[in-house]
Amino acid sequence: MEKTLVLLKPDAVQRGLIGRILNRFEEKGLQIVGLKLRRFPLDVIREHYAVHRERPFYDNLVEFMTSGPVAAVCLEGKNAIGVTRTLMGPTQSAEAAPGTLRGDYGMSFSNNLVHGSDGPESAEKELALFFGEDGDLCEWTPAAQNWVYGIEER
Ligand code: RTP
Ligand code: MG
Repeated sequence: MEKTLVLLKPDAVQRGLIGRILNRFEEKGLQIVGLKLRRFPLDVIREHYAVHRERPFYDNLVEFMTSGPVAAVCLEGKNAIGVTRTLMGPTQSAEAAPGTLRGDYGMSFSNNLVHGSDGPESAEKELALFFGEDGDLCEWTPAAQNWVYGIEER
């Protein structure tokens, strides 16, 4: 099983899409093991997007991400990182395919509703950043687990 960090960005929260977006992950079979709604501190957001620090869009990105509450979510499942990115769709929402979150709910490049970790290393770093080194997560076994995965996949 793999864990990934998802952020429901301020546009998703302000537009009342938290429930719908979480529903899509749940319906897919991804398990929610962490859930936190906060105005995350500036330094946390700056650190989260530190790879883009030198890019011209960095200041706007940080301003947007600190403009309101963000929901941080930890999802768990087989290949959770890749599966989550597929569900999200590409960065430019206007070009994202219907059926993806960005394709169904977004028009924008910056206000693209969701963040998902892009690899195992970033997932680990980002989860530590948003849920702490000790991992303020809830490990549990969903009742339907054995119906989501086949015998050979468990
Ligand atoms: P995210 O990290 O937020 O999940 O989005 P992503 O992987 O699809 O895109 P990424 O390349 O990591 O960029 C992070 C966010 O920065 C904004 N961005 N603007 N103007 C630009 O050229 C540009 N490039 C990236 C986007 O809002 C993107 O979500
Ligand atoms: Mg990214």
